Amino acid sequence: MNVLWRRAVPLLCRRPRLRADTATDRGLHSSCRRRTVMPAWIIDKYGGNDVLRFSDNLLFPILNYPNEVIIKVHAASVNPIDVNMRNGYGAKSLNMTRDPLHLKTSSTEFPLILGRDVSGTVMECGLSVKYFRPGDQVWAAVPPWKQGTLAEFVLANANEVSLKPKSLSHTEAASLPYVLLTAWAALVHSCGLSKEKCPGKRVLIIGSSGGVGTAAIQLLKAWGAHVTAVCSGNAFALMKNLGADDVIDYTVARVQEQLKTRDLFDAILDNIGGSSEELALHYLKPWSGATYVTLVTPFLYNNDQLGIADGMMRTGVTLASKVMKHYYKGIHYRWGFFAPSGPTLDEIGELVDAGKIRPVIDEVFPLSDVPKAFQKLEAGHARGKTVIQIVDPKK
Ligand SMILES: NC(=O)c1ccc[n+]([C@@H]2O[C@H](COP(=O)([O-])OP(=O)(O)OC[C@H]3O[C@@H](n4cnc5c(N)ncnc54)[C@H](OP(=O)(O)O)[C@@H]3O)[C@@H](O)[C@H]2O)c1
Repeated sequence: MNVLWRRAVPLLCRRPRLRADTATDRGLHSSCRRRTVMPAWIIDKYGGNDVLRFSDNLLFPILNYPNEVIIKVHAASVNPIDVNMRNGYGAKSLNMTRDPLHLKTSSTEFPLILGRDVSGTVMECGLSVKYFRPGDQVWAAVPPWKQGTLAEFVLANANEVSLKPKSLSHTEAASLPYVLLTAWAALVHSCGLSKEKCPGKRVLIIGSSGGVGTAAIQLLKAWGAHVTAVCSGNAFALMKNLGADDVIDYTVARVQEQLKTRDLFDAILDNIGGSSEELALHYLKPWSGATYVTLVTPFLYNNDQLGIADGMMRTGVTLASKVMKHYYKGIHYRWGFFAPSGPTLDEIGELVDAGKIRPVIDEVFPLSDVPKAFQKLEAGHARGKTVIQIVDPKK
């Protein structure tokens, strides 16, 4: 209740938009001297890994709204969306949602900072931020239409931020927000699962060994679901270690064949898409509220290819036809999307501190090796997350 109240205060006290130029005008609570530039990895155009460029004179973020905070980034992590955005994926849609106040130096999205996850220290707070104060250790995932976290500082809305679980280091904490919030959105909002509804439920996770998969297994096991994980054989030990009840190796035989010997499922979380979508009609319990949710959708791709109006039209037709096709067979069909949320991270943080969710880190790179981290991610076969350490914890 206390947590909810502290979160509600900024909403109740929300002020009209401010565009102020000085720290005093903006009524900042600050623990750092005003800086003008900072180091960051940026891109100035879309393309392959060679467009990633290190800059040590990127404009320091400033608070544009009273509910924003500036975070000093101790660690960040990279996700497939960073590689995709580097290639230009989603640019048409994301540019529509970018805030002009945050595009300070040019009329385009460049220079663009990638990276969604952050674990770090609050440096400055807007006037209506009551839940945080400078010096707080926090974690967050910032949405893709904002500047990212592969930088010394990042600007976030206070509602996207949460106090970091005390049991995790910054390096560990930075591995979790984006993938856990995505798994949460898919399982809770799309499939209707929760702590109360999970016991007795059978859930199939396709693509269980990467960032989202390892997060989803742990969330579902913390809530008491029965989890079947689909991955390659060399990830079996990891899956069992995270609590998966049953594991299927997609590399030895068709998943369809292997599933014939198993009971039907209440939910399928699909992190792979394509032909794995076919599993929905055959392996979910029909007419029981069972739901298939995929994270691999053509939504942003359609807008990139066709423009916003035609892209939205095609997306609507595709989604509607798939929903109807499954509905007639007694199955719910959904698309799942990452949703930033500080309050959800508060709840996840409690599970982390209770030892029910732990970070699964594939590899840690220093800030100087961001291009290598992208290369690694692009090569596939992730086992959990690729983390970027920005502040050396020993210093
Ligand atoms: N809609 C959204 O908002 C949203 C949010 C987050 C992620 N996503 C998407 O969701 C997908 C998963 O994200 P992630 O962060 O978990 O990616 P990831 O960390 O790269 O993990 C992908 C995992 O899938 C495994 N894999 C590959 N092919 C497979 C197959 N046919 N069957 C089973 N496992 C397979 C890979 O290992 P092996 O190749 O060694 O088997 C790897 O462990 C990505 O496409 C991402 O873009 C969407």
